[in-house]
Amino acid sequence: MSEFPVVAVECFELIADDLAVRGWSVQAAAIPFDLAAQLAQICRALWQADQLTPAAIGRGADLAVVPEIRGDYTRWLDDCPASPARSAYLKLMSELRDTLNRTLFLGLDTFETHFALYPPGAGYSKHLDRFQNSPLRTVSVVAYLNADWQPGDGGELRLHLKEGVVDVEPRAGTLAVFMSARILHEVLPAQRDRCSLVGWFRRRPDNPLLR
Ligand code: OGA
Ligand code: MN
Repeated sequence: MSEFPVVAVECFELIADDLAVRGWSVQAAAIPFDLAAQLAQICRALWQADQLTPAAIGRGADLAVVPEIRGDYTRWLDDCPASPARSAYLKLMSELRDTLNRTLFLGLDTFETHFALYPPGAGYSKHLDRFQNSPLRTVSVVAYLNADWQPGDGGELRLHLKEGVVDVEPRAGTLAVFMSARILHEVLPAQRDRCSLVGWFRRRPDNPLLR
């Protein structure tokens, strides 16, 4: 039996409904609090051990670290040591993927995710997650890991929507999910270390919807 409580499946159904209607969803308490706390501890330990790498923007030959545009430090979850928290999080994400595939027929296949730590002052300018030359990233998922986040700590995820902006506080347990090709977003500078797991569900390259 898992040592983490099972998240209500209804939460994933709500996310699927939101994605179908408007392309984004934010659910507080979607990640069990104990699990968020353990993942936060792993992220902070990696940071203290100098195991997080400055994040780059662009792809291939254009890859560059530009802290004014993107100031976080990352490490792929697959590159982190196995742990009950890692397994539990990946299991939750595979359940979310199954729900999205069952209800939205998105043909989501693999999931890639990395820890991200934004030190004070770091942010990520307005962008889309879908790469132009690699159109496989389909659904973006951000799990926030910050206990006791206060208004004024900054670090909001700002979604830029037709109807205006929506700001999401990076509170432990909150899950933000959105269509990678459609939703422009940014990370506002935080006043203190801000931890998250940022991931993408990718479609299979042979998905006929891509042609
Ligand atoms: C990203 C990103 C949002 C966040 O890493 O591409 O947009 O709230 N992250 O961490
Ligand atoms: Mn992004």
